[in-house]
Amino acid sequence: MTSLRELSLEDLRARAVKTFRRGGGSRPDVLLIRAGNEQAVLKDYSRADPWFGRLVGPLSIRRESRALKQLEGVQGVPRLLRIVGHNALLLEYIPGTSAREVPAGGLPPQFFERFYRLVDRLHEFGVAHCDLRSEGNILVGADGEPHAVDFTAHFRRGREWNLAARWIYGKFCEADRVAVARLKNSRAPELLTETEKQALARDRNTWLEKTARYVGKSVRNISRFLLTR
Ligand SMILES: Nc1ncnc2c1ncn2[C@@H]1O[C@H](COP(=O)(O)OP(=O)(O)O)[C@@H](O)[C@H]1O
Ligand SMILES: [Mg+2]
Repeated sequence: MTSLRELSLEDLRARAVKTFRRGGGSRPDVLLIRAGNEQAVLKDYSRADPWFGRLVGPLSIRRESRALKQLEGVQGVPRLLRIVGHNALLLEYIPGTSAREVPAGGLPPQFFERFYRLVDRLHEFGVAHCDLRSEGNILVGADGEPHAVDFTAHFRRGREWNLAARWIYGKFCEADRVAVARLKNSRAPELLTETEKQALARDRNTWLEKTARYVGKSVRNISRFLLTR
């Protein structure tokens, strides 16, 4: 039987049964692949605009795979199955739905507890996710458990002596935790604690995040302008 581990990028693509995201511009295709009774998710920049595909694609793939390797074994993070060429990753498929599709009242209190636990676990392993504000990056597994995907924007804990990097890392860890409170605020606001309410009130105004958002947006816009058709 054909195994997902042996197929070429084209053969993998030919076995796509679902599109989570259609690529193009600066974005990857994210596809569900099925071969025999195996399933996996292919994140593939090969169809992004040429310069993006050539430069940003391989960098993003390297970055994301580095985080996934560091997080190997953490329950709630998809396993990296393999890197396919320079432009694509094959990931463990997590059956379930994206938090974005869950209506208000659709998540029980335990979900948020588990989600905090997952976020703390990422941080114990030295990885801040940095993009948990996007609800598309939070999955509710078929078993009801939280999962985090899309580690393209992650920030890793710096070395002991690198105090600046350590400090920034701490801020991003805090932002990950606030993302849990944000989801709670939109789906189950009655569960918010006083501490979470205060964290949410402070949230939008920290200069680091404002700067990060500003830099992020500018880099994205400039590179999009330069690199895409
Ligand atoms: N391992 C996975 N298992 C199941 N669904 C996934 C997985 N990875 C991604 N997805 C789905 O694909 C969508 C896009 O993937 P993502 O990695 O967030 O790409 P992008 O960088 O384009 O946001 C996610 O919002 C999620 O719905
Ligand atoms: Mg995403």
